[in-house]
Amino acid sequence: LKGRPMTQHLLAIDQGTTSSRAIIFNASGQAIATAQQEFHQYFPKDGQVEHEAGEIWKSTLAVCREVLESSGLDASTLAGIGITNQRETTVIWDRKTGEPIHRAIVWQDRRTASVCTKLKSDGHEGTVVERTGLLIDPYFSATKIAWILDHVDGARQRAEAGELAFGTVDCWLLWNLTGGRSHKTDATNASRTALFNIHNQQWDDELLTLFRVPRALLPEVLDSAADFGTTDRQWLGASVQVAGIAGDQHAALIGQACFEPGMAKSTYGTGCFLMLNTGEKALRSENRLLTTMAYRLNGKPCYAMEGSIFVAGAAMQWLRDGLKLISHASESSDYASKVGAENPVYLVPAFTGLGAPHWDPHARGAILGLTRDTGIGEIVTAGLQSVCYQTKDLIRAIQNDGASLQALRVDGGMVVNDWVMQFLADILNVPVDRPRVTETTALGAAYLAGLQTGVYQGLDEIAQLWEREHRFESAMKPALRETLYAGWLDSVERVCNN
Ligand code: G3P
Repeated sequence: LKGRPMTQHLLAIDQGTTSSRAIIFNASGQAIATAQQEFHQYFPKDGQVEHEAGEIWKSTLAVCREVLESSGLDASTLAGIGITNQRETTVIWDRKTGEPIHRAIVWQDRRTASVCTKLKSDGHEGTVVERTGLLIDPYFSATKIAWILDHVDGARQRAEAGELAFGTVDCWLLWNLTGGRSHKTDATNASRTALFNIHNQQWDDELLTLFRVPRALLPEVLDSAADFGTTDRQWLGASVQVAGIAGDQHAALIGQACFEPGMAKSTYGTGCFLMLNTGEKALRSENRLLTTMAYRLNGKPCYAMEGSIFVAGAAMQWLRDGLKLISHASESSDYASKVGAENPVYLVPAFTGLGAPHWDPHARGAILGLTRDTGIGEIVTAGLQSVCYQTKDLIRAIQNDGASLQALRVDGGMVVNDWVMQFLADILNVPVDRPRVTETTALGAAYLAGLQTGVYQGLDEIAQLWEREHRFESAMKPALRETLYAGWLDSVERVCNN
C-alpha cells in the first residue's frame, strides 16, 4: 500500500464530445470547483462529425487553469490528475511539430461505413469480435485511422516511417500536457480502437494488417491507474503527475462504484452507454452487445458488457437548437408531464445510424405516429422517451444474454429530469438508482488518479463513498409497458436497413 499523500485534491479532466470540463475533487469525492467550455462541432457532410484537435487541447488547458484559479489551489498541491475522454475519436499528429495532420474524426462519424460493410462481407467480423470484443462498425477508431492515412497526402508513408502518432483524445491531451514526452494510453481507451486484443492486452498484428494501420503510430498501453508522465511546468505552473486515464464510460462505471460482477450503470450524455461489470470474464454477447474493458488495475483486466447508443442528450439538443421547439432542455419535462407516458408519437433519433443492438450505420432518424393534433409537446416527449426505449433495447439484449439486473445506476446530464427517470424505471421494469454525485465520469477519473497516488487504498474505500440520492421504481402496468414498447420496436424497424 502507498502512504497517503500530503495533499488529497485531485484534478479530473473530462474531455467530452461537446465540451471540455475540469473538476477538482476532495478525497471524499466532492467537487469543490468546476469549469467548462464548449467547442465547435464540424459536420462537413451527411454522417460526418469532426473536431479541431487543437481546440480540444486549448479548451482543456483553459478549463484546467480556470478551475485552479477558482478553487484557489496551486497546482503543486494536487495529488494527481485523472483524464477521462470521449472515446474512439481519432487524432493523428506529427511527432516533431505536435500538429494534427487532419481534424479529429469523431466517434459518431459514419464515413467509413462502406469500408466496414466490405470487411464484414469478406467475413472478417468473427476475428474482430473474438479478439477485441467489438463489431465491425465505423464507430471504432481503426477505420478512421486508415481513412486519414489514405486521404492526407504522404501520410501513410510518414506513418510507416514513425513520423506520426495516433491517439484517442486521452492520449492527445497527455502528449500535450507532458510537452510531447509521453505517448501513452490506458487499456480502456485501447480497447475501443478495434486494434487491441482484450484477452492478451496487446496490440494485435493481424488486426493492424486487416485495418491497414502501421504499428509505428501506436501509443504504449498502461493500466488505468498508472504513472502516465508529469505535466510540463509551463501549463499549470507546476509539474503534476497524470496518474489515471480511462474512457468516459469506463470512468463512469468506476465513479458509480460498479466493482462487482452484475453491477451496471447507464450514462446519459451526448449518447447513452450502458455497462455491466462481468469481472474477470470477458463474456461474449449473443445479442450484439460489445465486450469491453471495465478497467485494468495492477495489471489485472476487469471486463464489461456494453450497449452503446449514439444519440441520447443529442436528441434534446436537436429539439432545442435544430428544431427550436424548446429553448432549454429543462422545458422538456413540463411538456412530458402534460402529454404523459401514453404518447402515440415516436422519435427514432438515428441521426448517425443506430448503435447497439441494431448496428445499422445507414439508418437515419424519423418521427412516426403524427396526427392532425400532434403538437410540440408530443414530439418533445417522444424525444425524451426515445432515450428510455433505447435503454430498454439494451436491457433486453443483456437479459437475453442471461444476465439479470438488480438495479441500474444512472448518471449524466439527463438524469436530473425526474419525469425521464420515472419513465425509464417504468419501461425497463428495473429500479433506477440516481446517486448523490451525478458527475460520475469525472469522479471516476479522479478516483483512478487517487488510487495511483495513494489518496485511496483500494476499490473498497471508493465503493463506500457511493451514495444513492433517489430510487425510481416501476409503477407502470405490464400491458401498457408492452404496448408502448411494441410501438417503439415497430418504429425502429421502419428506419433500419439491416
Ligand atoms: O463512445 C463515445 C463516448 O465515449 C462519448 O461519450 O459522454 O461524450 O457522449 P459522451
